[in-house]
Amino acid sequence: QILKQLAQPLLAWYDIHRRILPWREEVSPYRTWVSEIMLQQTRVAAVLPYFQRFMEAFPTVEALAQADTERLMKLWEGLGYYSRARNLQKAARILTEQYGGRFPETYRELTALPGIGDYTAGAILSIAFGQAVPAVDGNVLRLAARITGSRLDVLDAKNRKIFRSWMAAAMSQERPGAYNQALMDLGATVCLPSGAPLCGDCPAGDFCIARQEGCQARLPVRSPK
Ligand code: ADE
Repeated sequence: QILKQLAQPLLAWYDIHRRILPWREEVSPYRTWVSEIMLQQTRVAAVLPYFQRFMEAFPTVEALAQADTERLMKLWEGLGYYSRARNLQKAARILTEQYGGRFPETYRELTALPGIGDYTAGAILSIAFGQAVPAVDGNVLRLAARITGSRLDVLDAKNRKIFRSWMAAAMSQERPGAYNQALMDLGATVCLPSGAPLCGDCPAGDFCIARQEGCQARLPVRSPK
């Protein structure tokens, strides 16, 4: 599998180019969770001030569980997708009541919480708990489709599952959190969605099939139903 060649050069690239971000400087399951929820539909630059204010206002799971919902929604104003904030508080209440304010460390328990799907569970398990679980979002699908040259339609859930299994098999076992965040950075800064990714700066350089074939702009395939 081509993707297995990626871990080493990707991690070396990440050690040089990684972005300094508040949820990376001080890592906890709570900070990882809140940041990943904010980052799901919002760019890093827009998230930064919200993340800092959120952590000051609600520094712990318990504080979030007990927070005045009006105050929470006020703080979220401008980020959009307000169900994210409501789900954060719902999940914080479950964590407080059923888990003593701590995070469960299994995929099954995490994905049972409101607002936590495949991607967020993978991010929390890998970044905060060091488990080798993939966190596959749109950026990672694009990158995986290009490196492997796969024409599988990423709008099809069955195919996303296939990509996820490839990513799981190719993951760094030693540094799963760094590996997943390196993929996020690569997708955000090099393997750009436009027709003009910065292939000259990419750690996948010579083994990326899309680059070899010059079909970067046509991948990933997204066939509207
Ligand atoms: N996008 C989604 N998750 C991210 C993370 N942990 N760091 C940077 N960008 C991200």
